[in-house]
Amino acid sequence: MNVWRKLSGPRRAVALAGASALVAGGLVTIPVTAAHAATQCSVTYSANQWQGGFTANITIRNVGDPLNGWTLGFTFPDANQRVQQGWSARWSQSGRNVTAQNESYNGSLATGASTNIGFNGSWSGSNPSPTAFTINGVACNGANPTTAPPPPTTTAPPPPTTTAPPPPTTTAPPPPTTTPPPPGQRVDNPYVNAQGYVNPEWKAKAESVSGGNRVSSISTAVWIDRIAAIEGTEDSQSNGPMGIRDHLDEALRQNAQYIQFVIYNLPGRDCAALASNGELKADELPRYKAEYIDPISAIQGDAKYRNLRIINVIEVDSLPNLVTNTSNNPGGTAMCDTVKANGAYVQGVGYALAKLGAIPNVYNYVDAGHHGWLGWDSNFTPTAQVLKEAATASGSTVNNVHGFITNTANYSALIEPYAKVTDSVNGQTVRQAKWIDWNQYNDEQSFAQAFRQELVRQGFPSGIGMLIDTSRNGWGGPNRPTAAGPTTSVDAYVDGGRVDRRIHKGNWCNQAGAGMGERPKAAPASGIDAYVWIKPPGESDGSSREIPNTDGKGFDRMCDPTYTGNDRNGNSRSGALADAPISGAWFPAQFAELMRNAYPPLS
Ligand code: GLC
Repeated sequence: MNVWRKLSGPRRAVALAGASALVAGGLVTIPVTAAHAATQCSVTYSANQWQGGFTANITIRNVGDPLNGWTLGFTFPDANQRVQQGWSARWSQSGRNVTAQNESYNGSLATGASTNIGFNGSWSGSNPSPTAFTINGVACNGANPTTAPPPPTTTAPPPPTTTAPPPPTTTAPPPPTTTPPPPGQRVDNPYVNAQGYVNPEWKAKAESVSGGNRVSSISTAVWIDRIAAIEGTEDSQSNGPMGIRDHLDEALRQNAQYIQFVIYNLPGRDCAALASNGELKADELPRYKAEYIDPISAIQGDAKYRNLRIINVIEVDSLPNLVTNTSNNPGGTAMCDTVKANGAYVQGVGYALAKLGAIPNVYNYVDAGHHGWLGWDSNFTPTAQVLKEAATASGSTVNNVHGFITNTANYSALIEPYAKVTDSVNGQTVRQAKWIDWNQYNDEQSFAQAFRQELVRQGFPSGIGMLIDTSRNGWGGPNRPTAAGPTTSVDAYVDGGRVDRRIHKGNWCNQAGAGMGERPKAAPASGIDAYVWIKPPGESDGSSREIPNTDGKGFDRMCDPTYTGNDRNGNSRSGALADAPISGAWFPAQFAELMRNAYPPLS
């Protein structure tokens, strides 16, 4: 994505025709007919600026004959305006003249088709929008410029950080499929060129462990795991005194562009397990709405925070349970039956989406399990259907969903380099290996990409993007394989080559041997909006023995290293670390191990 290539040698932008257009509020639209050619184009330029910097979004619409390759040209009115980093085109600037050449995937524009490109720029003095554009040297200079929409908000967004933006990756993103929103509204991918909020409460815990300062400035999510966490609470083991407002104010102070919250308090929470049971009983949907979602939406909707991208991860490990963990499934529970029958999860998630999705700078990503849970055909499509049902419940529409997140707080390897589901050994597919067990996927990224497509098939907008929680799926350290296993059997091959060293994919609690995974990264692969750190490393998944507490947390034997398992983990050992505190509480020994086994390794 965001390939910014400097063209070598002098390259003059095409001359601009003497068109004039209405410029107001940073947006200009020039639908036009060129004099001589069948090239006819309409270009919309909108800029969102702050002191010294701006983001420009440009829509090129082809209103003439089909185009096979295009070059956009325009001239900055001010000599100090600069393109710094662009996307979805090859950008270059010479003096005040700017050109943007199509990428391979967006060069063909049928009659009536449009494409969106953009860049981050800098300015000093003033930042007027360019008023004339050309495509392939032909002016887009017709009459009837549309009336400009209201100007962007007058409050300046936080200045960009002094840290250089992450280097552009070489993988091209899928071409944008939707027209970008008007200024002040959502961007396609809220992580691109944006600095994430560092939670000072987690940072302090991370720095309390030797070497923790290597990761303590990474953006991790703030978990709103109880009503009291909205205002901040010290009487729980998983939250500090900072409430949502405190975090948002601190995000403004940090000049962060995005902040991540986990909305996590459904009635009858964690219906298939015990370690993260919550405070609301299965029949307390009215309290969930009135005492939890409503106050959160009142705070997130405060105009003071309008220039922050507020990213909400919605209800981890909830909806897929309605498909796989009701009592008609092996190991299913009565609690999952109850919350399915009474609509607590579906209505609750719908309500959260409707309320929070009404805030223009909120980005909702709904939890979508992980490959070792939903990667079988019997779970895959039915779960996508339940997600659609929830997204359209309680007055919500699919447009309140910006995307989905997989692997939240889980340990599934991002990419298995030496054990692909398409591999076979002596003519036998490795899908029949015990580790894979006929799953269609053997790693998280391939699953997330495929599940995105399934969600679009079920009716979600084609622009949705996926997040993958990579905070603890690194699997580095001395035991990481460096090649495929022996071809003596499918099991030997898969077990020898897999980087995920768990005993079973169904194991989820404080996994021994795990490491921190990819550091947060925007647009790392097709369909993926970002790798993110949602589960703050070092916060426990559950206690290894019963520990009385006032947080509503139960004791789940999957967190007990002596447990020998159940139907859902193939009756295997739990693989959990010993001496763990209750879920959400700080577990320094785990944090130290996650650093030791980080992959990519920590420097
Ligand atoms: C678990 C806990 C929750 C905590 C979260 C993040 O889900 O149940 O209380 O906030 O992990 O560590």
